[in-house]
Amino acid sequence: MTTDSRRYALIDTDPGIDDALALLLAWSSPEWTVEIITVVAGNVSMKAGTLNVFRLLELRRPSPAPLVASGAAAPLARPLRIAPYHGTDGLGDLLDWPPVELHVGSADAPGVIVDAARRRGRSLTIVALGPMTNLALAVERDAAAVRGVGRVVAMGGAVDVPGNVTPDAEFNAHVDPDALARVLDAGVRLDLVPLDATRQAVLERAALHATLARTPGPLADGIRRFTEYALRLDEKHGRRGMDLHDPLAVGVALDPSLVEWEAVRLTIGPEGQTRRTAGEPNVRFARVVDTPRFLRLFLERVCPAS
Ligand code: RIB
Ligand code: CA
Repeated sequence: MTTDSRRYALIDTDPGIDDALALLLAWSSPEWTVEIITVVAGNVSMKAGTLNVFRLLELRRPSPAPLVASGAAAPLARPLRIAPYHGTDGLGDLLDWPPVELHVGSADAPGVIVDAARRRGRSLTIVALGPMTNLALAVERDAAAVRGVGRVVAMGGAVDVPGNVTPDAEFNAHVDPDALARVLDAGVRLDLVPLDATRQAVLERAALHATLARTPGPLADGIRRFTEYALRLDEKHGRRGMDLHDPLAVGVALDPSLVEWEAVRLTIGPEGQTRRTAGEPNVRFARVVDTPRFLRLFLERVCPAS
């Protein structure tokens, strides 16, 4: 167990374009050391997600380089459903990513999560950006260790708003509702960042491009190019920009005061519905976002000058 006062982050992700922006924000945040990235199937397959993590590591080259662990290739008890929103490869289908070597440190993401929880305890923040499959498998092995970390912040769910993959379910919860239920049933106190909050965190093309223009270089070019797929899709559907679902979860993990929280008991429906029910609260969820302050934080950090 660590005795130093530093904070450590373990990010579980299914990269995905918004996951990529979330990782870039996390890697540029001095409040913690991003020690571990665990990959889960969701937006894309485990194989594609793992490749995308190494593409992003090559693009950003954070120091220290995190351990990368591959994890669950499918939900606990149902077939994988991927998300077309991110392109076939999960990062906007660019044709000229430079080849990367995959230095996967472990193929046992749940075991890596448990080890990190035991080793870092309260100094560890776990941020879950995809379906909760890896976390549920970690909880199965050592629930007390996962309950013992500092915070578990998860992007997912839709409490008082419509879903984004069915009328009443959000994608991460829908892909693996059994995993989300298992994590909650194990008494893990989630800081949930649902669509109720993330739809307030809209990134407009002009704001992103103005920011990237201030720090020209390969990272800015890469961000501009891989976000294009999502921005175009959102604009085609009449939206003014991209919802920063996963970056908001990272932002809230860094600074909980960015949102107003509400403690609530949620029940998980068979298709990943996350609705209020009577009883003792089992999560607190982000309800209102200080959007200007969050977007400032995100844009200041997503593409640091090289
Ligand atoms: O519903 C949004 C969530 O689903 C985000 O995590 C996005 O990356 C997708 O995984
Ligand atoms: Ca995600």
